[in-house]
Amino acid sequence: MKDIKIKENIYWVGGIDWDLKDFHGYSTRRGSTYNAYLIVDEKIVLVDTVKHYLFDEMLQRIKKIIDPSKIDYIVSNHVEMDHSGAIPMILDIARNATVITSPNGEKGLKKHFKCDNWNMKVVNTGDSINIGKRNLHFVLMQMVHWPDSMATYIPEEKLLLPNDAFGQHIATSERFDDEVDLGILKEEAAKYYANIVLPHSKQVNSALEAVSSLEVDMIAPSHGIIWRQNIGKIISLYKKWASNSTDEKAVIAYDTMWGATEKIAHAVKDVFEEKGITTVLANLKTSDISDIMTDVLDSKYICVGSPTLNNGMMPTVAAFLTLLKGLAPEGRKGLAFGSYGWGGQSIGQIEEMLKEACPEMFDSIKVQYVPTDEFIEDVKNIVKGGLR
Ligand code: FEO
Repeated sequence: MKDIKIKENIYWVGGIDWDLKDFHGYSTRRGSTYNAYLIVDEKIVLVDTVKHYLFDEMLQRIKKIIDPSKIDYIVSNHVEMDHSGAIPMILDIARNATVITSPNGEKGLKKHFKCDNWNMKVVNTGDSINIGKRNLHFVLMQMVHWPDSMATYIPEEKLLLPNDAFGQHIATSERFDDEVDLGILKEEAAKYYANIVLPHSKQVNSALEAVSSLEVDMIAPSHGIIWRQNIGKIISLYKKWASNSTDEKAVIAYDTMWGATEKIAHAVKDVFEEKGITTVLANLKTSDISDIMTDVLDSKYICVGSPTLNNGMMPTVAAFLTLLKGLAPEGRKGLAFGSYGWGGQSIGQIEEMLKEACPEMFDSIKVQYVPTDEFIEDVKNIVKGGLR
């Protein structure tokens, strides 16, 4: 285990979760990291911690640099347990440390840890604390992505520690963006935004505005790699995602019982392809809905299909639409389609759920039993007509 210095006297002391494959329902096939940072100045500061089961890894990293009982401040930028889970354990060692957190952070930590006996200092946007040669400035980032979320900024180092914002779930032995394939990082940053941050895009815009006035040459989030070479790129991607701006791209997500809905899905795909629109076709029986959401992030068109099963849609389709509803993308154009034997309720139900993300809808497509060649031609004409 080697020291990982990110700036003079500032160290990464987090934990690498190589085995993490599911983060409360979000598939994390590349694992993750929980990034904690140690600042050694006249005061010793630990910014965030790790999930409780990686406490020993964090402690060993800290011990290589300083005596952990000497920590003066623990900044809790975010209450969620992947970052504050090890605070009680480090406080057992650093008994005199003060926990610095936002007003909602104080409330959340007290609810989680029943910790009325902790030394706590509550900070707001604009507050700062001198630690010697450096100052810690605090910027509240409410709902990016919890009410307690906050960023810590160190102007002397041009270093921003924004917690979950700009993060990616990826476990790597490298720590910086110029040491890892940028395509993979962009994909994981997009997946993270789509599955965690997307519902809070309005607040992301405010946070980006607050951050734009800061001089920054390093963004060190609480998951994944640290941005130092591609800061402009990740900020401009966040601006795009937060504005719900999309590309000429379509996601077609469907399930099928006996192949009829699948046949419609392929016909819809053919039209998008003919029009030169990037298209992702995802059978929900075999596709991962967290991955589909990554494609939804920059897709103008969202098409969802299901046969009718027991007066409703297939459970896989319901799961996808429930995720979509919660993540709340805006301004897309939607298409509901499917097949049925009798009843045919699934298509109307899909339409209702899609409307929240899609103010504009194609005419819905509904076939009884099996589509004929003529019906498939009609499907194509409906999609073509809607694209005009
Ligand atoms: Fe990485 Fe919201 O916790």
